[in-house]
Amino acid sequence: MIGVFDSGVGGLCALRCARRCMPEADFVYFADTRHLPYGERAPCEILALCRQALALLAREGADAILAACGTVSSLVLPAMAKQTDLPLFGVAEPAAQAAARAARDRGGDIALLATAATVQAGFLARDIAARIPGVQIHALACPLFVHLAESGTTAPSDPLARMSAARILAPMQGKPIRTVVLGCTHFSCLTGLLAEFFPRAAMIDAAAEGAAAMAAALPPSAKTGHGSCRFLTSGDAGAFSRAAGNLLGQPVVAQHADAGVIG
Ligand code: DGL
Repeated sequence: MIGVFDSGVGGLCALRCARRCMPEADFVYFADTRHLPYGERAPCEILALCRQALALLAREGADAILAACGTVSSLVLPAMAKQTDLPLFGVAEPAAQAAARAARDRGGDIALLATAATVQAGFLARDIAARIPGVQIHALACPLFVHLAESGTTAPSDPLARMSAARILAPMQGKPIRTVVLGCTHFSCLTGLLAEFFPRAAMIDAAAEGAAAMAAALPPSAKTGHGSCRFLTSGDAGAFSRAAGNLLGQPVVAQHADAGVIG
C-alpha cells in the first residue's frame, strides 16, 4: 500500500495522478488539516509533523510514502529519509527537473510559486538554478492560494479567486515568464486560473511530476493491489470528506486519525 500525505487537499492532486499511473495500487491518504498550513511553520515543526505522519501511515500498512507537499519535499525530505526504512518520494526534485527541461526548451524566465517556507528556504529555486545556470527565477510566496484551494475557491470564473490571483501575481507582470512552477501541491487545484495569468508559459505541476516519478521508480509488486483508497485526516473528517469529494469528483468518506501529540 502506498501512503500519501499533505497538510490538506493539495496532495489529492498528486494522489489523483498516482492512481491514474498505478490503477491497481492501494493507497492511504493522510491530510494533516489540524496543522495546516505547513508553509507558515518553521522547518523543525514541519519535520516533527512529518515524523507523526510517517508513523501513522506505517501503522496503516503503507510500504512506500509520497510526501505530496512541496514544502515538506523541499525542506525536510532528507531528514525524513533518515527516520524511515520505507521508500520515500517527494515532489520538489521531479518538479525542478521538469522546470529545467521546460525552461531549456522555451527560453525566458521561470516563475516559482510556492509557500512562504519553500520560498524562504530557497532549496527548490537553487535546485532549478543548478540544472539550468543563468536562468532568471522569480520566486513568489502565495500563502493565500493554499486557503483558496482548501475552501474550493478555485474556478477561473470565481470573482474572489480571480481578484486574489491578480493581486498576488502583480509582481510577475511584465516579466518574460515562459515556465511557471507550481511548487506547492495546493496550487495544482488552481491550474486553470493560473494558466490564464500566464497564457504563454508551460505550467509545471509539482504534484503531477512527483506522482509520475514515484510511479516510474516503484517496482511492479508495489503497484499491485485492488485499486483501493482510504482517507484519513487529523482534522474535521466531515469537512475534509466534502472538500476531497468536490476535488476528486467522487464521494469521499474520510476517517479521523490522531496522528500524534503535537497540538
Ligand atoms: N501543499 C503543501 C505544499 O505543497 C502545503 C501547503 C501548506 O500547508 O501551507 O507546500
